[in-house]
Amino acid sequence: MRERAAEALRANWTGTSTVPSRQLYPHQWSWDSAFIAIGLRHLSPLRAQLELETLFRAQWGDGRVPHIVFNPAVPLDAYFPSPDFWRSTTAGRAAGAPGAVQTSGIVQPPVHALAVWLVHRADPGLSRARSFLARAHPRLAAWHRYLLDRRDAGGAGLASVVHPWEQGMDNSPCWDAPLSRVTPTDPAAYRRADLDHGAPEDRPTDLDYGRYVRLAAAYRDRRYADGAGEFAVEDPSFNALLISSEYALARIEAELGLHEASSAREARAQALTWTLVERLWDPAEGLFFSRDLRSGHGDGELVPERGVGGLVPLILPALPHRVATALVRTACGPHFGLGGPARLVPSYDLTGSAFDPRRYWRGPAWFNTNWLLERGLRLHGERARADGLRRALLDVAGESGFAEYVDPYTGRGCGARGFGWSAALALDLLL
Ligand code: DGY
Repeated sequence: MRERAAEALRANWTGTSTVPSRQLYPHQWSWDSAFIAIGLRHLSPLRAQLELETLFRAQWGDGRVPHIVFNPAVPLDAYFPSPDFWRSTTAGRAAGAPGAVQTSGIVQPPVHALAVWLVHRADPGLSRARSFLARAHPRLAAWHRYLLDRRDAGGAGLASVVHPWEQGMDNSPCWDAPLSRVTPTDPAAYRRADLDHGAPEDRPTDLDYGRYVRLAAAYRDRRYADGAGEFAVEDPSFNALLISSEYALARIEAELGLHEASSAREARAQALTWTLVERLWDPAEGLFFSRDLRSGHGDGELVPERGVGGLVPLILPALPHRVATALVRTACGPHFGLGGPARLVPSYDLTGSAFDPRRYWRGPAWFNTNWLLERGLRLHGERARADGLRRALLDVAGESGFAEYVDPYTGRGCGARGFGWSAALALDLLL
């Protein structure tokens, strides 16, 4: 298993970073790279450091880390939306997009400080020799500042996402209501490259794509200025990952001798955890929900769809005990089937009317969310459940050839094979 995972990561390595998949995703993706670095650290701490450094070289002046860093050697039509759609070096200039590299203009979940910390710990000697933490720290601090200041559309302290691609679970039913207000772009105006490599029944629909394109083009046409878009959602998974990365950044600061900054950051991470509970927790459902800030109702409304993102806050250490206990109960109940009947935790409610075991984030199980839940279970003392999930994750990863995602009941693979984070996170759990 270790050798096969290492081979998948070698096959996707470009010399400076790792593609999620040679065919479907031939560039560098932001949260993919963070998860990939977490696994890569066991094979080559140096490559894991380079992976993150390559990504951060594409950071914008306003602090945002773009969700894609384009490889100029890849033909333009290999992936859509391509650099000529995002136009980062022109439309992104006001927001400080770098001139030397082409990127997208939206972001993805901030798993990076967590990744930097774990990569440092894998080989502290190499890390110190290369000043890995000292160089990463100002970039991570600017990244978090961007999210906590510029993206606080709800004014409560949480970061909001302006596109479903930013939260990372692109076509989750959690976005159906907020997306329904967006007029799709005419499909004749662009060509989907994803369907060249993925089965249409495994991928988002054309209607979803039309809406993704409309939102991204509108953001670009506002020159990536924040605050005015049609889509703004406070999401539990995105914010939990930000808070978890705040804790990691506090550790990085302590390691660098920045003790005051570290304590202040840790206190803020704790306060943000409480804000997350206040804004997004539903005690009757025992789950976190997304808050749609553009619903037309004052402070926005919770979207009543059960997505796996609602379980991800289990990774937070300061979660009140009653919340953590209720989350575990929900994970093990009929909606997510942890420990049976599902082999892995699905991306969406097994009993939901929109559930589809093959279609991307509308039901299939993904390795990154299951890896996060495994950590969360362990953190909250659920050792037997964490061990069970770890075993299931490793079995399904091996059987499916490190599929991009799988049917949550059968473990049958969907999407790409030899997928970067599936291989990397299996590798992380092997050790
Ligand atoms: C895609 O292209 O499907 C990605 O998820 C968007 O980043």
